[in-house]
Amino acid sequence: MKNHLEIKGLTHRFGGLQALTDINVALKKGDIAGLIGPNGAGKTTVFNLVSGFYIPSQGDIMVGGVRINAMKPHQIAAMKIGRTFQNIRLWNEMTVLDNIRISQHYQLGYGAADAFFRTRRYRDREAEITRSARELLEVFHLSDLAEEYPKNLPYGIQRRVEIARALSLQPDLLLLDEPAAGLSTADVAGLIDYIHWIHDTFHLTIWMIEHQMEVIMTLCRRIQVIDFGKEIAWGSPEEIRTNPEVIRAYLGDGEI
Ligand SMILES: Nc1ncnc2c1ncn2[C@@H]1O[C@H](COP(=O)(O)OP(=O)(O)O)[C@@H](O)[C@H]1O
Ligand SMILES: [Mg+2]
Repeated sequence: MKNHLEIKGLTHRFGGLQALTDINVALKKGDIAGLIGPNGAGKTTVFNLVSGFYIPSQGDIMVGGVRINAMKPHQIAAMKIGRTFQNIRLWNEMTVLDNIRISQHYQLGYGAADAFFRTRRYRDREAEITRSARELLEVFHLSDLAEEYPKNLPYGIQRRVEIARALSLQPDLLLLDEPAAGLSTADVAGLIDYIHWIHDTFHLTIWMIEHQMEVIMTLCRRIQVIDFGKEIAWGSPEEIRTNPEVIRAYLGDGEI
């Protein structure tokens, strides 16, 4: 079977800083894979490259056989890749419903003139977006929160809203950057169930960065470890847990 995501020789420099060197990844459709490593290892940079925020210095990023290296974030979204951010990025001054609606504007079928003159096409499309945003909230059991502002919601719920928003563009590859960061123990257990449910329900390929080992070890079938921008291991949870080089990389950075 062709790989869903294939990354070859990914290398990135920020000016004089060598952030990533020769990273290789191959995810099959439906995989749940993890990307771990100490702080500053380059994990978020990998996701920023895949989602089009930066253009790699070297290497190839292929999705379903198409090279996406030079694509912009909205083009990557159209390639059915969704993501969440290490620090939740919801618009706090907009309701939960509007947060979902605005992300769907990526797919709008009208121009600025249509919006300005509020043409029939514009009104139809807006009504369609509102309807599908409400439907999405329903699917994710978030309907009661449609008119709330994210800043007033508990962190764990904000995370769910952010994940739902990423899924509103119907991606088939979902990148989660530290989804459990800042959550309480109870919320972490809920998040694990939630991600399981999303994977089973929508048949997505999921790739996640996470510091909380319980989350990674429970959800991921395969895990890649990077340190100082280089791969040091790829393996099953058990192989990673017992890998001496991984243990060494994590000494001083919490337990594994
Ligand atoms: N936009 C940027 N400009 C310059 N340096 C950056 C930028 N983004 C990340 N870095 C640096 O790249 C390295 C990897 O960062 P990051 O990918 O955020 O690590 P991680 O997510 O593993 O903690 C760090 O040294 C960080 O300071
Ligand atoms: Mg990071």
